[in-house]
Amino acid sequence: MQNYIFELIKEEKIREEKTINLIASENYASPEILQATGSILTNKYAEGYPGARYYGGCQVVDKVETYAIDMCKKLFNAEHANVQPHSGSSANFGVYFSQLKPGDTVLGMALNAGGHLTHGHKINFSGSIFNFVPYGLSPETEQLDYDEIEILAQQHKPKIIVAGASAYSRTIDFEKLHKISTNNNCLLLVDMAHIAGLIAAELHPSPIPFADFISSTTHKTLRGPRSGFICCKAEFAQKIDKAIMPGIQGGPLMHVIAAKAIAFEQAQTKEFKKYQEQVIKNAKAMAQTFTELGYRVVSGGTDNHLFLIDLQDKNKKDNLPETQKLSGKVVEQLLQKCNIILNRNTIPFDTQPPTNPSGIRIGTPAITTRGFVETHACSIVHFIDDAIKNRFDDDFLNKLKIKVEQFCKNFPIYKD
Ligand SMILES: Cc1ncc(COP(=O)(O)O)c(C=O)c1O
Repeated sequence: MQNYIFELIKEEKIREEKTINLIASENYASPEILQATGSILTNKYAEGYPGARYYGGCQVVDKVETYAIDMCKKLFNAEHANVQPHSGSSANFGVYFSQLKPGDTVLGMALNAGGHLTHGHKINFSGSIFNFVPYGLSPETEQLDYDEIEILAQQHKPKIIVAGASAYSRTIDFEKLHKISTNNNCLLLVDMAHIAGLIAAELHPSPIPFADFISSTTHKTLRGPRSGFICCKAEFAQKIDKAIMPGIQGGPLMHVIAAKAIAFEQAQTKEFKKYQEQVIKNAKAMAQTFTELGYRVVSGGTDNHLFLIDLQDKNKKDNLPETQKLSGKVVEQLLQKCNIILNRNTIPFDTQPPTNPSGIRIGTPAITTRGFVETHACSIVHFIDDAIKNRFDDDFLNKLKIKVEQFCKNFPIYKD
């Protein structure tokens, strides 16, 4: 039976090689990271922390975790790091659990403005346990409205302000958020899951001098294994460690912690910085090409690795009848037929539901890891526009799929 799974892994490898991946939260981990994630470190139970475990035989994994912590602190210049959270969601839960009681008030960016489920959505643990008050964007600029955040903080007196997003293409002003949090006597959590790689490469201002806590994933721009971590000021170290274990998790995934250590190490190289520079260049080039082709890019552009396209605007400009209207779901499914993978996304002030929203989200971390530069990124925009223009012509779409596969062949993800 296990052959079935190995066959599926091969099938997934072929799918990844043959498709252009524009999902902003995905990337391709290096062979070293894959090797560590698939290593015998998965065998070891190590509840606790280095030097203070509830199991024997931890002398080697203690060194692994200590090294991962050191690498994480060095990379982000942090006072304390906990590398045990299994994911970004667990990292956020860990921070909340360390500081809040059920019912406590928190400010978080609304999901439909670009925030994440764990920033207070009602269907998530965050919104059902705590009293989250959502903040959004300015309707004029489609960018964060810091004045609104300040007013909400004065009105609701939150214990924590959560900053960070899953679908926001602009630089976040952590200094301003820090001022708002200190003015209002509350703590600041920056969830840098999406932009951790850009911050590591110093291409987005670091939240470290300003935030009390930083949570993150390791698998998006940071290009590590699928996981999470927390950094915090030294004064919160004990509470954070206790909240993660024994608070919300059991044994750490030592194989993944080893892979995280490698990711933190790789993120300190010159190659990584060059890679992140290219991620941003590719995103800017794509956003510009979409604009030239008549699409509206939310907020008019991007400062980071992603941007959103407003398809409602396209429907209006092209005066499309109801039956031919574009939506996020229609475009996601159409492009999948042509081996281009992205995700539907709400746009700011969307009137449509998240299941069939008015936008698509486009990200460049994965294509840049593959070696695509601006010219390739712009070709992809033309592929997308061609697919949209010819969406009722199956023959055209089949030919485009073959063209995309050929295009991908020139950029193997894993060489052997
Ligand atoms: C800003 C942000 N925080 C947290 C998460 C959750 O990460 P995970 O899927 O690892 O739980 C995500 C995932 O997309 C995210 O975008």
